[in-house]
Formats: sequence, C-alpha cells, structure tokens
Amino acid sequence: MRKRLIVSAAAGALALLLTVPASAAQIGPGAAGIGDPYYPNAGNGGYDVSHYDIRLKYQPATDELEGTATILATATQDLSRFNLDFVLGVKEVLVNGRTAKFASTGESELEITPARPLTKGSPVTVVVRYADKPGEVERGGYSAWLRTPDGGVAANEPEGSAWWFPSNDHPTDKATYDVSVLVPDGTQAISNGLLTGQSSRAGWTRYNWRQTKPQATYLATLAIGRFDIRTDTTPGGLPVVTAYSKDLGDNDGAARASVERTGELVDWLSGYFGEYPFGSIGGYVPNVPTGYALETQTQIFYSPAQFSRGSNTSVVVHELAHQWYGDSVSVQRWSDIWLNEGFARYSQWLWSEHENEGTAQELADYVYSSYPADNAFWSVKPGDPGADHQFASAVYDRGAVAIQALRNTVGDEKFFQILKGWPAERKYGNATIQQFQAYAERISGKPLADLFNTWLFTASKPALSSAGVPAAAPAGVAALAPGGKGAPQEPKSWKKIQETNSLHEHAH
Ligand code: ARG
Ligand code: ZN
Repeated sequence: MRKRLIVSAAAGALALLLTVPASAAQIGPGAAGIGDPYYPNAGNGGYDVSHYDIRLKYQPATDELEGTATILATATQDLSRFNLDFVLGVKEVLVNGRTAKFASTGESELEITPARPLTKGSPVTVVVRYADKPGEVERGGYSAWLRTPDGGVAANEPEGSAWWFPSNDHPTDKATYDVSVLVPDGTQAISNGLLTGQSSRAGWTRYNWRQTKPQATYLATLAIGRFDIRTDTTPGGLPVVTAYSKDLGDNDGAARASVERTGELVDWLSGYFGEYPFGSIGGYVPNVPTGYALETQTQIFYSPAQFSRGSNTSVVVHELAHQWYGDSVSVQRWSDIWLNEGFARYSQWLWSEHENEGTAQELADYVYSSYPADNAFWSVKPGDPGADHQFASAVYDRGAVAIQALRNTVGDEKFFQILKGWPAERKYGNATIQQFQAYAERISGKPLADLFNTWLFTASKPALSSAGVPAAAPAGVAALAPGGKGAPQEPKSWKKIQETNSLHEHAH
C-alpha cells in the first residue's frame, strides 16, 4: 500500500499516451529485492501489495501446513516476471486467473512468470497454493517457524513471514490481512487484529482473523496451539484480545499479571503518543523456548521467558510503544531501526519515571556512566548499526540517551509535542531518521544536526561537552571523568528494562 500510488498510476497512464507501447520482448522482470542495503533480497521490485488473504490448514501433530494465499497488488512497472519472498514448497501459482510458471530460487525467492506480461498500473491477483512442514525448512541453519509441543509460532524480525505466507517482505509495502486457519478441535489459532469468526465441523475448527489497518509483513503473526483466549474492551471501547498457552507452567501467573495490564498501559501511552492507531490491541504468550518479544501488530508476541523472573509491565510498555513507533510509523530502510527501538526503550524510561523507579535522566546518566569509552557498546552507531547489530543494546540504550539529549536540548514542552506529533504526521507510513530530525527541527525551531550526528552517527563515546549531553549538569555524570568518584546508582527499574532485550541474543 502506498499513498503515492495514485500519482504514479496517473504518471504511468500519461507515459503510455506519450510513448509507443513497448513490445513484450522489452518488458523486463521485477527486481529480486526492494533496494534495502541491509537485506538486498528483502522485498521485491515492480509491484505494490494492498491485501493478503491467507487460508491455512495446520496439523500440530505432524507440522503439516497447507495454504492458499491470494495477493492483491498493483504493478508499478511493466513486468515480464516478478518475485515473492517465500521458503515453503509451492504447488501451483495463478496470476489473474491463469496458470503461471514458477521457480524457487536463491535463499527465499519465488520467481513467477505470468502467462501474459503485466502492465504498469494494472491490478494483479496472485494465488499461491503451497504445502510444507515449515519447522523443517531451514535457511542459514534455522527455521523461523518456532515449533511448540502443541503447534507452532511465526514471529520474527526482520524476516519471518516467508515461513507461512508468500509476500513482498519489506516494511515499505504495507497491506491489510485476512487470515483464516483450520486446526483440529481443541487447538486454537491466533493472528493479528480481531477474531471475526470461529466455526467447527467434522473435528476441525476454523478461526478467522482480520487486520483492516495497513500492516508490514514482519508484523503479521500466526500462532497455533492450545490457548486460553480472552476478550475485553478498554474503558475507551478499544477491543483487547489476550491469549495464554495452556502450558505456561510456573510462568502463567506472571505472564497474565503483566499482559492483562495491556488495556491500561495502552491508554497511558496514548497520553504521550496520541490516539492509538489501530482497531484492537492485545498480546499472546505461546509455549516457545525463545527469549524475545515482538511488536506484532495489535497482537503482541511474548516469550514465557520474559516472565520467568516475575511480572514485567516494562516489556508490555515497550511492545505497546512500538504500535506507534514501528508499526503505524515504520522504518523506510532497516537502518532506520532507531526510530523503533530508541523510542520503545524511551517509553520504558517514561514508565520507570511514572512508577518512581528512576527518572529518564537518571537512566540516561546510568547508561552513559556504565560503559567506559573503550567499551564496544560505543562502537555501534544507533543511527546506522549495520544488519549484524540491528538489535544491539546500543540501538536501544544509547538510542534512548539520544532521545533524552533531544529532550534536554529542545525542552519538555517541544519534546512532548514532537513525541506526540510524529506518529500523527506519519500515520500508517514509513520514515527515515533524517525525516524525523527535520520534523524535530521544524517543531523546536532548533538546528539539531550536531545532536543527531553525535548521539546516533558517531562510533565513539560522545564527550560530555558535546551538543545535547544527557543533561546540562547531570547528577553523577560529572564525577565520571577519569579519576572521578561516585558513579550514579543503578536505577530500580534498570534490570527489568534490560530483560526486554537481554535475551535478544538467543533469537536469530
Ligand atoms: N523488536 C523486538 C523488540 O525489541 C526485537 C526483536 C528481536 N528479535 C529477533 N528475533 N530478531 O521488541
Ligand atoms: Zn523493541
């Protein structure tokens, strides 16, 4: 889904009027990647998806997944051929109702050659029929389909959808979703948005889920297993859907005591980020051995490990913050990841402040003082961390210090105006860090290039004298100069906050 679509379609129509129609031989294939330097094969060129209709049948006992994906798209160039990103075994492909040739190439490309070339601006309907055991399909030594004793889960960043549906797998191509899953009676299926229907027949139950707001592919999720599904509404009328594996064991109470706070916390965050952008909210805790959480749109994925040290409202705040910073406003390129993780981490600092467990300033001072200048922490540039360091702690913690530095530079009034204004300015879209900087400069009326360069784009520890230090005279920080005494105390919230991503390294 692209807002610019109408313009480009009109330009395309104009171009057709002015040029001699190209012969079929001149029509080329779409690119195998959308042009993201971190992940050259992610996404594809030549078309724009508006809707995914995904019909699945899954057998937990054997991991057999059968699917039919119907993809509605618009060609953005003339196409002799185009790609989808997919790793499962394909049985048949139709393009605009006609059988198409297809081949699985490279790591995760499904190359489709329609019977007739596609013309720029024209609507395209692609049907892909497939069947495979996703847990057994590995790329680079791993499968993104997390098998559980009672089923499986798809929730990964930046790439995971290729294990359950074919797509244009990049955050810049958002679409709406219908996900319909047939599972044996007694098993539940969970996806994004609202459960719009559920029906049983002959030993199988079908679950229909619907996401009506634009959603990036990596934010689509599927979970199959034995779940306790609960529905509620916030005082403001927003539907809340939560689900817990029936096998959480010792973590069950802490998981529920955290995730059942979702409605209250989304209301609290709305005070900072503005109106909640989607039609429902919730979260689920499947029986997976992973350690991370993921901001899957409106239906957040949590690992049970996240609650193995007791309840954790901080991780819920983090993933809820992503619904504004990451899901509604998404990265333009994966190098813009600070726009997601810096702000989600900063929201945890605001929550810490609210809970009297340490102010954002104290947390910033603590991060600054915790890592000496020669620590590798400072070698990661949060504004361009590289694909290998996309989820490095610097993106989160130094990234949040950068936001505190911004706050200190522009003052609270402008800062909170920016924090709330940005998600409205870019709702359902994509943005770069440079665009955020320009927005913050416009709202604050201050030049911010030095601040952004220092905190986001420099591979060394910023000096205290540089623009936008954590604070003008930070308590504790001044004493940190070599030979200084008395480092700031660890804020009470510190360990809980770190639990959100202390287990990231366990994920792929
Ligand atoms: N966006 C997630 C979070 O911080 C990070 C997920 C990293 N995990 C992974 N499997 N790559 O909440
Ligand atoms: Zn995050």
